[in-house]
Amino acid sequence: MLRRIARRIRRELLRRGLKVGMYYGDLSTWTDLTRDEYVDHLRFTIGGFLSPGNVEAFEYCLRNMPTTGAIVEIGSFLGLSTNIIAYAAHKYRCPNAFFTCDPWVFAGSEKPKAGYFSTATREYRDWVTRLYKMNLALFSSPFPPFTVEAFSDRFFELWNANAEVTDVLGRRVRLGGTISFAYVDGNHTYEVARQDFLNVDDYLIPGGFVFFDDSSDDAIYEGLQQLVAEVASKSNYKLILKTPNYCFQKT
Ligand SMILES: C[S@@+](CC[C@H](N)C(=O)[O-])C[C@H]1O[C@@H](n2cnc3c(N)ncnc32)[C@H](O)[C@@H]1O
Repeated sequence: MLRRIARRIRRELLRRGLKVGMYYGDLSTWTDLTRDEYVDHLRFTIGGFLSPGNVEAFEYCLRNMPTTGAIVEIGSFLGLSTNIIAYAAHKYRCPNAFFTCDPWVFAGSEKPKAGYFSTATREYRDWVTRLYKMNLALFSSPFPPFTVEAFSDRFFELWNANAEVTDVLGRRVRLGGTISFAYVDGNHTYEVARQDFLNVDDYLIPGGFVFFDDSSDDAIYEGLQQLVAEVASKSNYKLILKTPNYCFQKT
């Protein structure tokens, strides 16, 4: 009982520290989502690319973002981050709609892995897309996000046009409007990730967050490091977390 109260006080203090952008370290001692048994289950069950610190950042953003505006994920793969974000949005009672996009085009991966297995085949793509839909329908039921099968550029063209589209689960939905949290995890080149940021920036509301996967100081993606340095230098963006990937809040 006492331990629970102490944990709650500690969490609240850290939360207040985070609110003023003071805390850039390891949050795993206090976050709730990293100790959540459903998140553990999703991590064990769904394949994907997700560093533990990203879950901490998701939690922070979802618990502190404005309640108006959409959640947008760029790059969903098999749906690991997608399902964790969807679950966390449900857990923290976020009323925000959630949209994701992925073209599932694995260009550039023609070279067989270890000279043994190629991910550039139609069979592999079919397997990924089928599994994604199954993961979404099963693990995010009854609150599956809307996923548009498209490159991010096309997704934002549709977003700009307020277009009505059919998502991968066959639901009609209208895109567009403000964004409160964007997770950028699609193409990791400077050019594409920068365009993703510019597109997000057009719709991100003050108080909203943009979080870049694989942007940490020791990541292999120099283009992303260049991009987060540029975002950090903007007067209307504040570096709020490094977990160790970079997360910014628009001011
Ligand atoms: C690193 S994976 C995403 C991992 C996923 N978020 C997870 O939790 O496992 C990158 C994904 O981005 C997708 N992608 C690549 N370029 C993209 C683009 N321009 N727009 C949207 N998605 C893209 C790829 O098809 C791939 O599925």
